[in-house]
Amino acid sequence: MRHVLNAKQFTKKELEELFLLTDDIKNNPKKYSNKLDGKIIAVMFYEPSTRTRMSFQTAILKLGGKFVGTENAFDNSSGKKGETLEDTIRVLQGYADAIVIRHPSDNMPQRVASVATVPIINAGSGKGEHPTQALLDLYTIREYKKRLNNLKIAILGDLSNGRTIHSLLGLISNYDNIEIYGLSKKVFELPQEYIDMLNSKGIEYKKCNCFDDIPKDVDIMYHSRIQSERFEGDFGKEEYIINKEVLSKFSPETIVLHPLPRNEEICPDIDDDPRAVYFKQANNGLYVRMGLFVQAFEN
Ligand code: CP
Repeated sequence: MRHVLNAKQFTKKELEELFLLTDDIKNNPKKYSNKLDGKIIAVMFYEPSTRTRMSFQTAILKLGGKFVGTENAFDNSSGKKGETLEDTIRVLQGYADAIVIRHPSDNMPQRVASVATVPIINAGSGKGEHPTQALLDLYTIREYKKRLNNLKIAILGDLSNGRTIHSLLGLISNYDNIEIYGLSKKVFELPQEYIDMLNSKGIEYKKCNCFDDIPKDVDIMYHSRIQSERFEGDFGKEEYIINKEVLSKFSPETIVLHPLPRNEEICPDIDDDPRAVYFKQANNGLYVRMGLFVQAFEN
């Protein structure tokens, strides 16, 4: 059984296997069109989503499977009547061959894995992890940079609450000669536990105070939205906005990623710049998620 719960479960070898499979699915989708024949996947989202939920559902349909489940699950499931997450999983696994779940609890992966008898795929757990997003992020980096070692990566935005950032750091820490630069408002700085994790893998974390502190030849600028649903109060808007003027100071090879949805942190005036690859990144999510399903039922 192959759960996808967090970034740290993936080895470099497993990542390359997934990415080679994803390449093949992207190039030969018809070859995989009956891989989920006869399978039913439960898709339970306790938080809003556009990309993750619909790309998972599309992946299931393209592989020949079917899905059940609900969006807005706090209102539309018996969670509303006080059923625990664990009991919901115990019930759903009697109906479905795998469960894709998004939930606001940081410890959702541990809770569901403790009772699961079918593969569980974490589609976002609180501010902790979003491993399938990080897999598609890494796949996109590999696609555009043709390497995963020897990279300079700037992370921007809500480094404190941004689960996609946390999972991406977990995956990229598998690789050699990685430099990470962080630029955020003080209130959204990267928590120490992630800095410690990077340091333990020999990666130095360089905190920046302005765009000029990021090297001009940085390979990737990964911006993220302020996760206002994760905290009380108002800490204002993003100060570090990537627009045409900012991007003009960076290398023609620097690519801009964002997990989306975006708010003000990426100005639409760069959307037509070939370095702005966030919509292609979102599209890669479909193929990476197809790859995860294929693996889930092969291993
Ligand atoms: N990137 C991401 O998780 O987007 P959604 O919230 O729309 O799924």
